[in-house]
Amino acid sequence: MTAGPEEIAAAVARLRAGGVVAFPTETVYGLGGDAMSADAVGRVFALKGRPATNPLIVHVSGEPMGRELAATGAWSKDAAALARAFWPGSLTIVVAKAGLVPPIVTGGGATVGVRCPAHHATLAMIEGFGGPVVGPSANPSGRVSPTTAAHVRASFGERDVLVLDGGPCRGGIESTVVSLAGPAPRVLRPGPVSVEQIAGVLGRAVERPPAGEVAPADEAAASPGMQARHYAPRTRAVLFEPAEEARVLSRVLSGGGRIAVISGGVSGVPPPHVHLRMPLDADGYAARLYAALREADELGVDLIAVERPNESGTLWDAIRDRLSRAAAPAGQGTR
Ligand code: TXA
Ligand code: MG
Repeated sequence: MTAGPEEIAAAVARLRAGGVVAFPTETVYGLGGDAMSADAVGRVFALKGRPATNPLIVHVSGEPMGRELAATGAWSKDAAALARAFWPGSLTIVVAKAGLVPPIVTGGGATVGVRCPAHHATLAMIEGFGGPVVGPSANPSGRVSPTTAAHVRASFGERDVLVLDGGPCRGGIESTVVSLAGPAPRVLRPGPVSVEQIAGVLGRAVERPPAGEVAPADEAAASPGMQARHYAPRTRAVLFEPAEEARVLSRVLSGGGRIAVISGGVSGVPPPHVHLRMPLDADGYAARLYAALREADELGVDLIAVERPNESGTLWDAIRDRLSRAAAPAGQGTR
C-alpha cells in the first residue's frame, strides 16, 4: 500500500487548510499539523488528549528545514553531524528553539525536538507542504502507538484526521530522542539509534537513560513522554521472565479469567487463553510489538501477559523500555 501523488497532494491540501493528517514514518504513524500554526497544533493536542506541557516533535524534510527551527547558533556542529549521520531516520534531535516556533509546539519550553523521518510519502508531503509538520505518535495520549493506517483509523474519525496510508511501519519503535540542549549530549528516550552510535559520531560521551527502567522524576520532566505509564493497552498487562512462564501462567490461569500470552517461541497456552507468537529477532519483534498489544487488547481478555525478552542489543533495550511502560512486572498487582 503505497501512497501515490494524489494521496500526497490531498494530505498537503489538508495541512494547508490547518487540518490534521496522520502520516507514515519508518517508526510509527504521526499525527501531523502545520508546525507554524498554533491553531493546527492545538487541534493535534486536542485530538490526542495530550497534556499541553508535553512537547511535540517537529518533522522536517531535511537538515536545512531543521536548522531553521533552532535558535541562532543552536544548530551546532554536533547537531549537523547527527543529522548527516542519521537522517532521514529514527533520531530526534533536541536543541534550543528559534523564536518562530510557536510555544504551543514545545509545551512552553525553550527547546524543540526535530526529526527527518525515513518514509518517501511523508518526505514528499513535507516537501510539497513546504514547511515543518508536528507529529506526535498518532494514538490517544498514553496509549499504544499505531504502526498501520488501520490502527490510526481505529482511534480517529476520517473527518478529523486524513490518513496518508504508507503501509505498515518498517521499524515499529519510536525514534531515539537525544538532547543537545544541556551541558552534555543526553539520550532522553531509547530507540533504534544507540547511545554508542551517537557517541561515535560526536566523538564524546553521551548520557543515557537507565536501560529498561522507568526514568526518575527529573527525567520525566525533561522528556514528559518518559512517564512510567505510557504505551499502554487498556487491558491490564504484566511482564514475566521467560524462566517463570510455567509459574506465572499456572497462577494466572488458576484465576479463572482469560489471558493473552505474548511470547517468542512455542507456548503451551491452552484455550480459551490465546497465544500471540512474537518473532525471535529484534527487528521482527519491534515491527510486530504494537500490533500484538492491540490485537491482545481487542480479544477482550482479562489479562495480557508478556514474556520479557532477555536478548541484548540497542533495539531490545528500546523494546524492554516500551514493555516496561506498557505493563507492570508479574506479581505486582494492578496498576
Ligand atoms: O518515532 C517517533 O519519534 C514518532 C514518529 C511519529 O516520528 N513520534 C513520536 O512522538 O514518538 P511522541 O510525541 O509520541 O513522542 C515524542 C517524545 C515525547 O516523549 C516527548 O516528551 C519528547 O519526545 N519530546 C519532544 N520534544 C521534546 C523536547 N523539546 N525536549 C524533550 N523531549 C521532547
Ligand atoms: Mg507517543
